[in-house]
Amino acid sequence: MCGIVGYVGRSVDGGIAGHSALDVVLEGLRRLEYRGYDSAGVAVVSKGAIESRKKSGKLSNLIAELEAHPLPETVTGIGHTRWATHGGPTDRNAHPHLADGGKLAVIHNGIIENFAELKLELLDKGVTFLSETDTEVAAALLADIYRNKLAGDTADGRLTRAMELACQRLEGAFTLLAVHADQPDVVVAARRNSPLVVGLGEGENFLGSDVSGFIDYTRRAVELGQDQIVTITADTVEITDFFGNPAAGKEYHVDWDPASAEKGGFSSFMEKEIHDQPDAVAQTLMGRSDINGRLTLDELRIDPELLKQVNKIIVLACGTAAYAGMVAKYAIENWCRIPTEVELAHEFRYRDPILDANTLVVSISQSGETMDTLMAVRYAREQGAKTISICNTNGSTIPRESDAVLYTHAGPEIAVASTKAFLAQITAAYLLGLYLAQLRGNIFSGQIKDVLADLNKIPAKIQKILDNAEPLRELARSMANEKSVLFLGRHVGYPVALEGALKLKEIAYIHAEGFAAGELKHGPIALIDDGQPVFVVVPSPRGRDSLHAKVVSNIQEVRARGARTLVIAEEGDEAVKAYAEYVFYVPETPTLLMPLLNTVPLQIFAAELAAAKGYDVDQPRNLAKSVTVE
Ligand code: M6R
Repeated sequence: MCGIVGYVGRSVDGGIAGHSALDVVLEGLRRLEYRGYDSAGVAVVSKGAIESRKKSGKLSNLIAELEAHPLPETVTGIGHTRWATHGGPTDRNAHPHLADGGKLAVIHNGIIENFAELKLELLDKGVTFLSETDTEVAAALLADIYRNKLAGDTADGRLTRAMELACQRLEGAFTLLAVHADQPDVVVAARRNSPLVVGLGEGENFLGSDVSGFIDYTRRAVELGQDQIVTITADTVEITDFFGNPAAGKEYHVDWDPASAEKGGFSSFMEKEIHDQPDAVAQTLMGRSDINGRLTLDELRIDPELLKQVNKIIVLACGTAAYAGMVAKYAIENWCRIPTEVELAHEFRYRDPILDANTLVVSISQSGETMDTLMAVRYAREQGAKTISICNTNGSTIPRESDAVLYTHAGPEIAVASTKAFLAQITAAYLLGLYLAQLRGNIFSGQIKDVLADLNKIPAKIQKILDNAEPLRELARSMANEKSVLFLGRHVGYPVALEGALKLKEIAYIHAEGFAAGELKHGPIALIDDGQPVFVVVPSPRGRDSLHAKVVSNIQEVRARGARTLVIAEEGDEAVKAYAEYVFYVPETPTLLMPLLNTVPLQIFAAELAAAKGYDVDQPRNLAKSVTVE
């Protein structure tokens, strides 16, 4: 939710020694636009004044505005791309918000929960507001402190001190960036429960919601802790807490390649990321087992003795990541025989869950910033549970606040609809399950070796699906006018059905629902009418007793009621042909691993159909990539 960029470069004789702030900020916004695209805005500091432009709609609108009304070339700037919370997506509500007579500009990600109370206080002091946002209240508070409370202070350090005092009054979640005309070569930022990373350059420094905000310029990043303020100039980065006490950030190397955050010739990021999946799975498997087929998850850094004592696992996540968690449950319970629950993170802490020191909480999050998941992890830790994060984003908050992390190595995922992260999450969860089984001696080492061998074959099998997808794409294009599509699956096919439906909803705006195939007769079958398209994810005929036969019966049940059955089945499964209008075959693989293959055709189908409808596949309406508000 909302992307934030800040930059300070070096000036020589009043000119620019390195990059133009506006260029850096716009490039950062381009890369961060996936975080929100309701509006965009920039502010630069020039000749003792702030100049800003902002526009509702996508970044392209702001760029057009900048072409019509250019900003001066400067060394200091901030930029914002918005996912609206307080106030609609209008020009007026777009960030930056100005205060202190136009000398201060502020951008914000998050929600300031006590903004109404602060606004009343400021209105009483005669402050007027132009927008409906909580951000403008934060800007006005900062300005009030800067102008009145710190009236006697010199300009040097004054914005930082004002930020400290303002943050002491703010409640909720926020990343704030501020520039002031009195200090033209400084950007001050603060974070609480909302992401912010620093990029370290040579004679220039950067701020971003995540590293993609500055990935074109530096690979050296610093992660900030909770409730910290950072003041950057071209040559310095100073970190304090909200009370001015010096604090230290943790520097790390960014291994994402800027090219991996480009479309690379594909029509959309989503298409590119679907095609990245063989690599995402391969990278997530790489280096995590030895030649004897033993898992080597040394990075977990949780005492193996503690893991041996775990008697319950709770998987916490939201959206697609929660479906990855559902797949994980089948695998973990099968291999480890540890009772495993999967819960939507936003439901978890409101039901007084039962957990203790022998509970292992596994959170799954691509971004590592999903507020619902973060809050659930914090709650679990408070209750004494051990927490492991499965995450794709180095330096993000959830892994930092967990006892251990298992990174997925899917590379940056830009499209709002998650694809490669899902497959990488499932892969990492399998590795975790196998590791626990190995540690606890639940299954023979030979079995672990066999599963790893099967996992290592998955990337080539995904590639085969990608290479043979044209008929599926044709099917998708022919269905662009459908109003509703249903998805059925059993066992691990159930979360795949849910994920297939979610993809179609979020990018093609088609009513879609996923069901456990066995649940049909308990109600949903009433939805079946003449011509209703129903995707059915069919398990391997070589798999668990009767699972395949049961799903084939379910196909017949819906078909008998007029459904148009579209089947995803394993190569060689001739039995399904008799009951299906359309069959897409995926390569053979053991049942538990099938989601890594079965999901791919459903992703391709959704992306192709949405594109056929002329929709922006990467930036679907109303959504943002990282949900950093509760
Ligand atoms: O970053 P996270 O994995 O924590 O995000 C969780 C969900 O918000 C995310 O998977 C969402 O459901 C995607 N838009 C699905 O495509």
